[in-house]
Amino acid sequence: MEQRPVILSGIQPSGRLTIGHYTGALRNWVSLQQSHECYFMIADLHAITVRQDPAELRQRTLETAALFLACGIDPQQSVLFVQSHVPEHTQLSWVLACLTGMGECSRMTQFKEKSAQHRHNVNVGLFAYPILMAADILLYQADLVPVGADQKQHLELTRNLAERFNHYYGTTFRVPEPYIPPLGAKIMSLQEPRKKMSKSDPNENAVLFLTDSPEAIRRKIRRAVTDSGREVRYDEQNRPGLSNLMVLYHIATGKSIADIEQEFAGAGYAELKAALTEALIEFLRPIREEFERLQRDSGYLLSLLAHGAERARARAQQTLRLVYDRMGFLPQAPYVEGVRIAMEDSSHADL
Ligand code: TRP
Repeated sequence: MEQRPVILSGIQPSGRLTIGHYTGALRNWVSLQQSHECYFMIADLHAITVRQDPAELRQRTLETAALFLACGIDPQQSVLFVQSHVPEHTQLSWVLACLTGMGECSRMTQFKEKSAQHRHNVNVGLFAYPILMAADILLYQADLVPVGADQKQHLELTRNLAERFNHYYGTTFRVPEPYIPPLGAKIMSLQEPRKKMSKSDPNENAVLFLTDSPEAIRRKIRRAVTDSGREVRYDEQNRPGLSNLMVLYHIATGKSIADIEQEFAGAGYAELKAALTEALIEFLRPIREEFERLQRDSGYLLSLLAHGAERARARAQQTLRLVYDRMGFLPQAPYVEGVRIAMEDSSHADL
């Protein structure tokens, strides 16, 4: 069989997925599925670096799986799995931690930001987060890692760790390349359009979730912040609110920005908002409907994830075995019944 390049990527189940996840991740994952061997992971181990409610984490993990499928991830083609189902992630993470300098982790922009945000809980896991991410990637010998620009620094660390390991212990890991999605993939907050739309934003009106009902979409677009001015002209610098709505309209309809300007020439923001609302409702409808259908069948989702974990683990185990061997860990011989172990020899034999 021909070898396709390997892709690994993941999303944390730390909130409901937004339209930003669709444009920045899921949409690209779906189009990479046929030409690549893909591993798509729900990064629950990463999520606990900030406090999670257990019941909610469990529910979000299953929801995230349902949304991956509803957006077009095909479990026949790709391996869909939950990070904590594959223990090799934490195992490799320890090995890599022993090769990482404290300074390398403390320099990470995301660590600095998150430790400022969660001042009362700056835990060691938050610090070591990029090492676990490196383990995720290197375990699968990934060639390409689709990530948002905010994860580029973590990928740089991953590459350094792979090269360091290969240098000390002999070539073991493939050194992965980042795959940064094309521009226009970044969706901004509907309330503060200079900030990225975030699933954990406390203001619900700032975020379009993939599962939003038509009523929620209507309300959020109605309340979306626009800028002063009247014409529908794309200008990210000076009119970030309007420009963000235009990008959303582009996503929902496939029309180019130039065509959108044409369409609303002579009209104003209100017309754009009205058309955008209807376009978004229709665009998100099939995703939401498929999501709701899958949600009613958690047995199916669970067995799919079990199968995914098995396939993921088969690959992860190969890498970890090689790593342990290269590091000089004593191989574990199979235990054979009836063979005497030297230690418990003669002296105690007659007890
Ligand atoms: N850190 C990533 C994020 O928050 C999620 C993630 C975890 C990931 N492990 C990964 C992404 C491995 C790509 C590859 O967006």
